[in-house]
Parts: sequence; structure tokens; C-alpha cells
Amino acid sequence: MKKWEILENIEVEKLVFWGKWFARHSDGKVIFITGGAIPWSMVNLRIIKKRKDFYETQITEIIKKSPIETWKYAIFPWAPWINIDYQEQLKIKDNQIKEAFFHILKLSPEIPWTKWLNFLPIVWAENIFWYRNKIEFSFWKYISHREKREEHFNAGFHKQWEFSKILDYDSCDLIDDESNAIYKEIKDFAKTSWLPVYDQKTQEGFWRHLIIRKTYFTEQIMIILSFYDNFFEDKKEREDIIQKIKNFFAELQKKYLHISSIYLSYNNNKADIAIDRLELINGKEVITEKLLNLEFDIGPKSFFQTNSLWAEKLYSLVRDFAKKELYQNGITLDLYAGTWTIGMIFADISKEVYSVEMVEEASKNGEENAKKNEIQNMIFINKKVEDFLDAYINDWKKADILIIDPPRAGMHPSTLPHLLTFNTKQILYVSCNPATLVRDLEYILKNSSYKIEKIQAVDMFPHTHHIETIVSLLQV
Ligand SMILES: C[S@@+](CC[C@H](N)C(=O)[O-])C[C@H]1O[C@@H](n2cnc3c(N)ncnc32)[C@H](O)[C@@H]1O
Repeated sequence: MKKWEILENIEVEKLVFWGKWFARHSDGKVIFITGGAIPWSMVNLRIIKKRKDFYETQITEIIKKSPIETWKYAIFPWAPWINIDYQEQLKIKDNQIKEAFFHILKLSPEIPWTKWLNFLPIVWAENIFWYRNKIEFSFWKYISHREKREEHFNAGFHKQWEFSKILDYDSCDLIDDESNAIYKEIKDFAKTSWLPVYDQKTQEGFWRHLIIRKTYFTEQIMIILSFYDNFFEDKKEREDIIQKIKNFFAELQKKYLHISSIYLSYNNNKADIAIDRLELINGKEVITEKLLNLEFDIGPKSFFQTNSLWAEKLYSLVRDFAKKELYQNGITLDLYAGTWTIGMIFADISKEVYSVEMVEEASKNGEENAKKNEIQNMIFINKKVEDFLDAYINDWKKADILIIDPPRAGMHPSTLPHLLTFNTKQILYVSCNPATLVRDLEYILKNSSYKIEKIQAVDMFPHTHHIETIVSLLQV
């Protein structure tokens, strides 16, 4: 078999720990599949890389659905597993994490205690629908000669495996009824305006994206509507249309009282991103979410966990896992801090919290949130963790507990030896990617006397393969 050839009628076996799907070919080679496969479905695959022992592939077609799938819901990118029974989803996730840890076990037989890994039962989501506090819709055409389809106004989501196509949706199962009703009104308004949707290839057209954010605990809604501002040649026409949009939103806000903030995004960006030059046309600059009795302002560009209810659960588990008696009133290093959420929940039990985050916007939000919550013992560091640790250690500064919540790629290899120099009694590692979690743990475990106390998976994103894992490491 050669690159770009199609492998036909392949049965998907399982999700493996680096987020890829696994299957076997009759020629004895292993097949890795990128993208949203479902175990036990039969698929055709295109070979995108060929190696001695394996193929890297992408799905081109589903030949037979998996027995664990139903036809209940329309699939969209934020919920590729929506047709898999929730208990089955949990089994797949649980298995994926265990497989990752057993992979270390095989690689590192010299770590004897791995035999007694303490996997706590996965914490399932209480709310498996309507859990997202943010969703983004796109406007686009749908033209497919192969499918003999030509639709000139679509609003919805990118088609699975075909990013260049947008499928039309009237609602989304992961946001609540009110957000769906607002989406439908905006979509109908756009459709009946007879202005064309934006076409990224030709850079023509008007309507581009719509973002709706709704806080879970405080029920505040932010809307960001994005359009191609260069569409207009005539200045007067431009002003008239923008005024019409503003009038429409003024009416919409009277009808949906939870709408707190409305932005227009004048978006002449060539890339497919929703936020460009922003104008706040109604309401407040930010919406405010409340987690664990702390308030968090969320601006149009702020990073915030997309499942508020389960973010609260995750953070409270992290706090519960901390052995306060080992570091009470000590120094907490909160690495990869985002908007400082985890740092803030450690502030009242620490002398000082150093929160390190490389994205300036997120750091600024974090700093403002700390002020808003009258937290005074947090130190804001807008730097890469790798650069921060070097300087911090050179200054002979110490730490009493490490909290690490890196992005999917895990920690930079240069940071791992630095972590060990602190010799803290406990490390809490929060991860959204079992593969890099295990890779980083392998280094820590081989080069120190840390031992895994417990492993807790938390399902924050039902209907996707994403899973958060908290690992508590203690020095023995
Ligand atoms: C998984 S998020 C964690 C956010 C935060 N703990 C929370 O729950 O809100 C990872 C964060 O690490 C930041 N980041 C990624 N690479 C980094 C690096 N090398 N140094 C510092 N921060 C980094 C990202 O911008 C992101 O905010």
C-alpha cells in the first residue's frame, strides 16, 4: 500500500493514549487514525504517512456504524461522540488513561510501585448536554459537486473531516434553550438580510461568525457577531447596514434579559478567526462567572474553561487533593496558570502564590480577577514557565507545592529537571492529555523519589474524546 491509497473496510479497535485511534491491517501493520472515529465502526481510510510498521491515516468514509452508536443526534465538531451511549464514552476514556499509564509500566519496569497505581473511579459529568458556556457558529456556503448540493446560506459548524464545509444547524445540543433561541433569531435576521455569507476562498461576502457565551452560575450572555467589513464599497450603505444590525440587537436585548454584552467584530482578517476589531454596542465589556465563591470577569478574548459547572468540580478536587498540612502557609507555584483560577483557590491557604502564564491577555484577566476578589498574595508572572523557572531558581527561591496544568503538548523538556530542584512534598499535575501527562510523569518518577498517590479522571467534555486527569505525587 502506498501513501494516499485507500484502506477499505477497516474496523476501528480502540482509542490509544496519544489521542489517535487504533486498528490493524491484514498485512500485519498497525493503523493509526486521526480524527473522530468510533470503536467497532467500519471505515475507509486514506494513508497519509507510511512507515515500516504502521500507517497514519484519515477517515474518508464510514462504511458501517459501530454497534455502540445511535442515529439520535446530528454530529458536529464539538460533539463527535454524541451518538455513543454516555456509559460507553466513559469506558473508552477510562481505558485510554489506563492504557497510557500501563505504557509507562512497560517502558519502565524499574518503577515498581506502578503496579499499585491508584485509579479513582472517573468523575462523570452531571450535565451531559447544555454544558458549554461558549460556542462558535460560522456562516458559509455549501457547494459540493460530488454531492450535487449548492446552498448559498449556511450557519452552523464545520463538517467533520472536511473543514472547508459548513453544515447548516438550527440549534446545538451543548448550549441551553435560551442560547439556542438567540442563535436562531440572529441566524434568521442574517438570512433575511439578503447579504451574502463570507467566502474565505474569494474573500467576498459579509456574514462570518457568531460567538455566544453564557455563564452557568450567573446567567450572563455575551454575543460577538463578526462580519467582513471590506464588503462595502459604499460608505452610506455600510453605515445603514451596521445601524440595522445595532437596532436588531437593541430589540433582541429587550426580549432576552440575560444578554449582558454585545460586540460587533469588524473582521477583515484573512484567517478563519472570529475576533478582529471589536466594538461594544450594548451592555458591559465583560460577563462575570462565579466559581467556588470567586468572581471571574470574562472578556470577549478571555480564556475560560468552557464547562463552568465541571470546572468548579475539577478545581475543588485539585484543592481537596492538596495535603494542606504539608505546605500550609507556604509558597505555591501555579504553573501554566491561564486566568489564575487554580492559583486563586490556593491563595487563602498559601503565604504567596506565584502564577505563571505566557499569554498576556490571560494574565491580565487573571490579575484583574485577583483584584476583584481582593486577593493580595498572588504574584503575577507573564512569562513562559521555562524562562520563569530558570530565573526563579537562580534567585534561590523556594516552593512548597507545585501545581502544573500545561497545555496538550505537556511541559517543555527543559522544565522537568527544574521542577525536581524544589523538592516539594507534593506535586499536583492537572492534564488534558494522558499521553503527555504520562511522558512527563515518567521523567519525574525516574529521577526522583516521588510516588503517585492517586489518579483522578474528570469528564468535563461529554461527547468528545477529551478528558482531564489530576495526579497527586508525593515524596516518599
Ligand atoms: C490547560 S491551560 C490551564 C489554564 C488554567 N490552569 C485554568 O484552569 O484556567 C494551559 C495554559 O498554559 C498556557 N501556556 C502554554 N504554554 C506555556 C508556557 N510554555 N509557559 C507558560 N504558559 C503556557 C496557555 O496559554 C494556557 O493558558
